[in-house]
Amino acid sequence: MKIAIAGTGYVGLVSAVVLAHVGHHVVCVDVDETKIEQLKKGICPIHEPDLPELMTENFCRLAFTTDYAAAYSDKDIIFIAVGTPEKVDGSANMSYVYAVAEQIAASVTRDCVVVVKSTVPIGTNEKVEQHLKKHLKRDVAIEVVSNPEFLSQGTAIKDMLHGSRIVVGTDSESARRVIASIYENLDQPVIFTDRRSAEMIKYASNDFLALKISYINEIANICEVLGANVVDVARGMGMDPRIGDKFLRAGIGYGGSCFPKDTKALHWLGNFHDQELKTVKAAIEVNENQKLRLIKKARKYYSSFEGITVAVLGLTFKPGTDDLREAPSLANIPILLDDGAKVKAYDPCGVENFKRKVSGDIVYCATPEETLRDADICFILTEWPEVMELQPNHFLTMRRPIILDGRNCYDPGLMGDYPLIYDSIGRTI
Ligand code: UGA
Repeated sequence: MKIAIAGTGYVGLVSAVVLAHVGHHVVCVDVDETKIEQLKKGICPIHEPDLPELMTENFCRLAFTTDYAAAYSDKDIIFIAVGTPEKVDGSANMSYVYAVAEQIAASVTRDCVVVVKSTVPIGTNEKVEQHLKKHLKRDVAIEVVSNPEFLSQGTAIKDMLHGSRIVVGTDSESARRVIASIYENLDQPVIFTDRRSAEMIKYASNDFLALKISYINEIANICEVLGANVVDVARGMGMDPRIGDKFLRAGIGYGGSCFPKDTKALHWLGNFHDQELKTVKAAIEVNENQKLRLIKKARKYYSSFEGITVAVLGLTFKPGTDDLREAPSLANIPILLDDGAKVKAYDPCGVENFKRKVSGDIVYCATPEETLRDADICFILTEWPEVMELQPNHFLTMRRPIILDGRNCYDPGLMGDYPLIYDSIGRTI
């Protein structure tokens, strides 16, 4: 099978490398020349565990180009894995998907299968098919198949190699056979369905996970009021197989490139069809408030942040990535700065990206220990291993050891034995 993949972001590049790993030859296409030049030299542009190693190992089966016409002309399968970012109104911006569809239509010289991997609103695969037909330059047959991805940043390689399922949406028997053969070495259950259902599986899965997080965060907030411990509550709930123990970690809300965007996109789509998704709306609203939970807690100790030094541990939306999209740090730090605080920040991967997004009175530190020294309060925003490993006495170098832990990194009982104030999410000391 000759494969091309449009888009060398997370989804495109990880898919390309894993498909090369299971023996396929893959050409990756992107409009970003600098990125393609880097990739040609074997430099991985994304911070993702195991990706650079696997890319090097399978480099002989990978090619990178900006020449889409040459890349698409003779392929059996062309994946579309470009971004569908959020528009101002919450809907998904589909312009990159349709631009690639036009390029494919202008370039293909033989029958092929176009696989839509990007997260797209329900009905998009049909529109992509119409778009392709409208712009086709030659008499060839193209099947359009929906094949959403379920990769998480930080574990993307593992997720693709050992995923829970592969979803394939098509009514075409021949396209089913082609896609099944691509994934045959991955040893995962393949769910065949129609295209609209496949598109919906992606949104419904992400939105359900977001909903689970917002639900446990609301339970956490009321646990604080009523003196219960949300970690024990989640453990007790999660042992019921009908609920499951995953995605019940209370914290300061979900971020990243997917949950915020996909909840808003499905909610927008529901409204557009006069079918509002009220549970999804609630998940979005709870999350917006939860991101500012530590600011609310900090106001108990400081009515104004003027002149105080805030130690911030963690900037990225989760550990294992340098991605800051929708990270709680982007909501919290500007408020602290606007209110006159000095910020000392630590993050093992996200500092360069953060500097591009936020400016102000911020000192970036090389270690969590250095960040804490002489600070008047500490915000824990990401549960990096380096942060989790801190011991209570590390916080005693603070001028005023008030620790607001947005990720429940430490045992409140242990922290309570030290002369410090420790306030986490959904747990009272
Ligand atoms: C998410 C999904 O988990 C993937 O299945 C999906 O393929 C991907 O979106 C996508 O659509 O591309 P990702 O955004 O990389 O993956 O990261 P997650 O590990 O899901 O975490 C998202 C956010 O939820 C993070 O901010 C994390 O801190 C938060 N979270 C997660 C919680 O607050 N509590 C939890 O129990 C779990």
